[in-house]
Amino acid sequence: MKNFNIPKILQRPTPLLRRLSGALALTILGTSAGNAIASCEYTINNDWGSGFVASVQVSNDTAQAVSSWQVQWQYSGDNRLVHHWSSELSGNNPYVASNADWNGTLQPGQTAEFGFQGTASGIVEIPQLTGSLCDGGSSSSGGSSSSSSSSSSSSSSSGSSGGTSSSSSSSSGSSSSGSSSGASAENLYSLASFPIGVAVSAGNENRSFLSLPEKQVSIAQHFSQLTAGNIMKMSYLHPQENTYDFANADQLVDWAETSGIGIHGHTFIWHSDYQVPNWMKNYSGDFQAMLNTHVTTIAEHFAGRVDSWDVVNEAIDENQSSCYRNSLFYQRAGSDYLSEAFFAADAADPGAELYYNDYDTEGGNGNKLNCLLQIVDGLLADGVPIDGVGFQMHVQIDWPSTSQMRTAFQAIVDRGLKVKITELDVPVNNPYASTPFPQHTSYTPEVAALQKARYKAIVATYMDVVPPQQRGGITVWGLWDGDSWLLDFNSRQGVDDWPLLFNGPADGPYEEKAALNGVAEALLGQ
Ligand code: XIL
Repeated sequence: MKNFNIPKILQRPTPLLRRLSGALALTILGTSAGNAIASCEYTINNDWGSGFVASVQVSNDTAQAVSSWQVQWQYSGDNRLVHHWSSELSGNNPYVASNADWNGTLQPGQTAEFGFQGTASGIVEIPQLTGSLCDGGSSSSGGSSSSSSSSSSSSSSSGSSGGTSSSSSSSSGSSSSGSSSGASAENLYSLASFPIGVAVSAGNENRSFLSLPEKQVSIAQHFSQLTAGNIMKMSYLHPQENTYDFANADQLVDWAETSGIGIHGHTFIWHSDYQVPNWMKNYSGDFQAMLNTHVTTIAEHFAGRVDSWDVVNEAIDENQSSCYRNSLFYQRAGSDYLSEAFFAADAADPGAELYYNDYDTEGGNGNKLNCLLQIVDGLLADGVPIDGVGFQMHVQIDWPSTSQMRTAFQAIVDRGLKVKITELDVPVNNPYASTPFPQHTSYTPEVAALQKARYKAIVATYMDVVPPQQRGGITVWGLWDGDSWLLDFNSRQGVDDWPLLFNGPADGPYEEKAALNGVAEALLGQ
């Protein structure tokens, strides 16, 4: 089944009224009378008067591990939930949130967190929480709204201190630094009829979004698809010949499922040395059969739970006359490893869209694009079940030109395949440019405007060239600037950069950048 299916995003709630930034973080402790330590907290992460994003932290302050939990609450006014994540939610004021499959077990001292988005009409409430871990069910409120803590402090808004609710105020003058000229995206994904994705760290990685509630809020608010930046690659999922380790990836996929967000799988086969497990390097049996088993086992495991896969990543070397990179796979199985992988993936999960994914194919490097087309044409001629081409698009602020991108996208469109931008980032400094590097040492409003224009031009080119039914989606490679893999890139010499759609180091503050609005404007055709 290779049809363009109506993306999951259309099953998600319609956008709420325009999001105004200037987040106001209010936390109220779920304490009861006496000396109890709060064990359930209700936090308003974002409040724009007509809607809000909030989260609840459930801590196990008992001496025993628990294997499940439940929290109930009721709004006294008109607040209602429209979207939730990281819990099973039932009811409609009162609400009952139970743990999801993966966050029910809490050791003494551990905390789980779940979140939701809701509507309001002016007053955003902090309700009382009850539940087995909420201090015997007495709980919350009681005025002491420690406006405090945690999350998003983009709020320029003077003295965003904590009167309890009533944050329609937050609309006043809150827009973030010069960014919100033009379209403002309250839910980026809702502006597109195709997936809008983001790559995330998860599992044991630094800055796992599963341990950073603010990331979860931004992801749920703006994105309809996730790619694991690392943890669904070969060495993570298949560390030994007879051992597959799906636990971390399952946690990520479960979170996405609970949140109504899709998954783009990345990737069954990639030559990158750190990604090829040692046992595979030393494999002495039938290499192609072994690779088929690898693809089949992983695709079957996630069947029905991923929208699409990068079946093979970076197989091209345009300096080889064959166009094939002289990878372990090519050496041991010949060029057929590519088509075999698509057949195996298709058989194991016929519902998933299957992509070939590569970098530097978006037009600036003509030889590489030619190799891509040669290989894709060969796959099509052989009846290989390929649905599309993923363009990583780790581009520069000034390279390649949009007309080069246009040519590359068009060539894939002409072959009847989908075009997916799989790993977009736009650093503001180009180490390969003729001008001295770095060109920008700080992220000024001028630099932000330049970057916004570049993001907008890329997305506009995509919208212009790729017809709706051939749009596989657009994914940005990371959420916060501080997450970007480019910061560790040798050629960048440790120079700072700001390549993504949100500012922010690991522990906040974070804020939407002008670039996000650039993407929104292009999606809206503005
Ligand atoms: C990168 C990750 O972002 C890094 O964290 C990791 O150290 C190396 O891999 N092309 C790809 C991605 O297809 O898998 C790469 O991801 C970035 C380049």
